[in-house]
Amino acid sequence: MVRKIFAVLALLVHQTIAAETCFRSNCKKEGSSDSLTINHASFTQVPDQKIDPAWPINETLQVSGTQEERIRACTERCTKIGIHGCRSGNLSPYQENAPSTCDLFTYGIYAHSIHLVPLLRIVSTGWTSFHLFNSFCEGYPCQNGGICYPHFLTDEGYCKCTGYSGTLCQTLDPLHHEEAGHWTFDDYTLSNTGIGANTLATSESGDGIVLETLERDSPVLQCQTTNCLTIDNTNMPCLKDYTSPYGCTTGVTFGFWLRPLWKTTGGSFNYLIQGKATKQGLTFNSVTNSDIRLHIETSSTRHMCTLPFATYKPNWFKEWTFIAVTWDPTNRKWECIMDNHIIQITSSSVTSSSNGPIVFGNQGSDETKFLMDDVVYYPMYSTPEMISAVMDLTKSGRN
Ligand SMILES: *[C@@H]1O[C@H](CO)[C@@H](O)[C@H](O)[C@H]1NC(C)=O
Repeated sequence: MVRKIFAVLALLVHQTIAAETCFRSNCKKEGSSDSLTINHASFTQVPDQKIDPAWPINETLQVSGTQEERIRACTERCTKIGIHGCRSGNLSPYQENAPSTCDLFTYGIYAHSIHLVPLLRIVSTGWTSFHLFNSFCEGYPCQNGGICYPHFLTDEGYCKCTGYSGTLCQTLDPLHHEEAGHWTFDDYTLSNTGIGANTLATSESGDGIVLETLERDSPVLQCQTTNCLTIDNTNMPCLKDYTSPYGCTTGVTFGFWLRPLWKTTGGSFNYLIQGKATKQGLTFNSVTNSDIRLHIETSSTRHMCTLPFATYKPNWFKEWTFIAVTWDPTNRKWECIMDNHIIQITSSSVTSSSNGPIVFGNQGSDETKFLMDDVVYYPMYSTPEMISAVMDLTKSGRN
């Protein structure tokens, strides 16, 4: 609490031009706590360190006087420029009879994940760096690559997370990605409820039927004709340039719950297609009554995994199974996951064809009806741990 009181800041609140500045330990709020008459900015001073001057400099000034006066002139100027133009600065080492240089940065010191912090400040004897203080963001509380956004007026802030959720990005949640798609059907429509819902539309052409099932305790999608669910990927940064080398530089993951309604005895049908041509892109291809083959066709290569339903789920056509495919850009390979099993992929050559929307549906006869639920997409490679997290998040059906 005490810390919070001292940590008050204030920058150009209501256009008040701050005449003074102070450091964390001696900042005082002026006026009543609710009013906006605060006119001090609170800075944290870091001795013997220099902020990387590669960041955009707003202004450079020469300051003289005692060291204390120089620091004061430098931070005062920062306060006067205001929060949009100045959030940190460097003061060069003190020399008698010569002024010091003060560089003021537009740069917000908190706007990076903690991994970058060692690169932001360089040990430099005699230099003084300072930054606007925020109680929430000081100390880089956001975990797992999350970035802190300070709100200087209230001295609060929040973490922006990618692939994690929670106040401090502490919970593994791959669907928490600004390009993630999540089709739950829980609201009885084919709409995308993922946080990338604006990026990945659901095409009107989807003609699957949303129905309630007891097993999933929520509405699911029943597919029986072509284009059961069409995902319009026109604006998907990752999949738009899927070929060479698959566009998705951080990888890509598709997943969904599947419940085939009965076995086929041969032939083929597709559960999932990306591409205008049959079997181009990602296709699920049931070939026998004991397994489902998953094809991922990119440019001129077919990657295939055989999901051994007969081995893991003898009654597979009566059960729900979580299926995922993920592209690992580092090792340049696809992986298939069936529940918690990683399935080997084999590759062969195919003729290339063009990209198109992702279509969930079947291209065969209607003896291949199936149910789907919680179709997810996000532009990241998934470790087995991430796949488990997505499985857990979508396991109950209603989520
Ligand atoms: C410095 O800050 C002011 C106030 O926000 C801004 O208008 C100006 O564009 C900034 N200048 C530079 C060079 O960043």
